[in-house]
Order: sequence, then C-alpha cells, then structure tokens
Amino acid sequence: MTPGVRPLIAGNWKMNGTLAEATALARGVAAGSAPAVELLVCPPFPHLVPVAAALAGSAVALGAQDCHAAAKGAHTGDVAAPMLADLGARYVILGHSERRADHGESDAVVRAKAVAALAAALVPVVCVGESEAQRLSGEAETVVAGQLAGSLPEGFAAAGGVVAYEPVWAIGTGRTPTEADIAAMHARIRAELEATFGPAGATLRILYGGSLKPSNAEAILALPHVDGGLIGGASLKAEDFLAIAAAAG
Ligand code: PGA
Repeated sequence: MTPGVRPLIAGNWKMNGTLAEATALARGVAAGSAPAVELLVCPPFPHLVPVAAALAGSAVALGAQDCHAAAKGAHTGDVAAPMLADLGARYVILGHSERRADHGESDAVVRAKAVAALAAALVPVVCVGESEAQRLSGEAETVVAGQLAGSLPEGFAAAGGVVAYEPVWAIGTGRTPTEADIAAMHARIRAELEATFGPAGATLRILYGGSLKPSNAEAILALPHVDGGLIGGASLKAEDFLAIAAAAG
C-alpha cells in the first residue's frame, strides 16, 4: 500500500455471466461494501445498465472494460467513452492484455482510448504487463516501462488515472510472481509515474492483477506501492471479491 492512498479493488468480469447472474453478483458486492476500500465492478457492455441499477444507493463504482478512441461515429460494434459516462460509469479498463492480444491493441491505440476516456471524464485503468518469455529473459521491467511511456497520456495524473500491473502469464493461470518480483515491479512503475508526472505520480494507484484470490490477497496487497487489485476469476463470486477487499482494508 501507499500511505494515504485509498485502495481500489476492481472486478473485471470479462465476458462472463447471464443478466440474472450479473445483477445478483452486483447486489452481493453492494451488500458488503467496505468504506476503507473503493470497490469497482466492470461488467460486459450489455450488463452495464442493469448492474448500475443493482448498485444504486451503494458506494460501489461502475466501470467498463474498453472504449473506442472516437467520441462518436461510424464504428460498428464499438462503444464510445461518453456513452459509458452517460450511463453512470466512472472508470474504464484500457489495454487489458486480452484486448492487446485479441484485438492487436498497441500502446498508441491504448493511449488514444485513454485520451477519449479523459475527455469523457472517465478514469482510465491502464493495464500493463510482460509475457512469460519477457519475464524469463529479464526484460519485464523494461517492457512495462515502455508500455507506460506509450500508453499514458497527458492529463492522466490530474484525473487520478490508475495503472494495473498484470503479468500476462499470471492471468487466469493460478500462478503469480514472487512477492519480491511484484514489489520490484510496482516500485519501478512508481518511479516511472513520478518521472513522468512529478509529485502527482506519487499517489496514483497501482493495482496488481493476475490470479489474485482470497488466499494470496493479504500478502500481495500489503506490498509497498500495491494500492489494490484488478481481479478476474475471483471477482465472479461476491464472497471471494469481498474477501479480497477485506484484505486490502
Ligand atoms: P484473473 O484475471 O484474476 O482471473 O487472473 C485478472 C485480469 O485479467 O484482470
């Protein structure tokens, strides 16, 4: 944790769940929200509106999993940042490794999307992380520093932008880096944020993501510069998600 920074525990529901499951999950998360921690859920696009309704009156924030770089226009199948803001989203995940892989999103694309998010008053949650080959060849920190330099736009710090460090090989695999490796990467990310944004970079939240679960959350979330988590699989059960949040608080 970074002293004085309120942790963010974010659920990335990915492409999972029926409408009934999504609203039940949202109600379960809303019932357990803890004031010391900011809770965020990011459902798939079709579930945003009913999940917003299920969260009404709670302190749980709503986010999306992607947005387009343009504010509107001829982009069949895409969703614009102002549309997300309009229906009550406060955050948007950008540059998740699954989007970088499935849709070929480069750092430049992620940056353009982050610019669009900021223009719509959404807080971008920009994901970075190395592949297993890059970790094994000792390039992890250089890769992540490059992703940050390419993906974070001007205005990111002023808007309270969030960085999520998610080693690609740890996502959905049950494997995590060692605590020492997570701490070293988060310290490097902090240094990059401070070098880019000055003192404002010292308090931006840096989340860890990749097989975070109730059994490892306490140890990982206690590491310096780990200011919360981005959780996939374990965010699909309210009980597990809230147990991770409890470990952060
Ligand atoms: P996981 O996913 O918790 O299932 O590993 C994390 C993520 O991809 O955001």
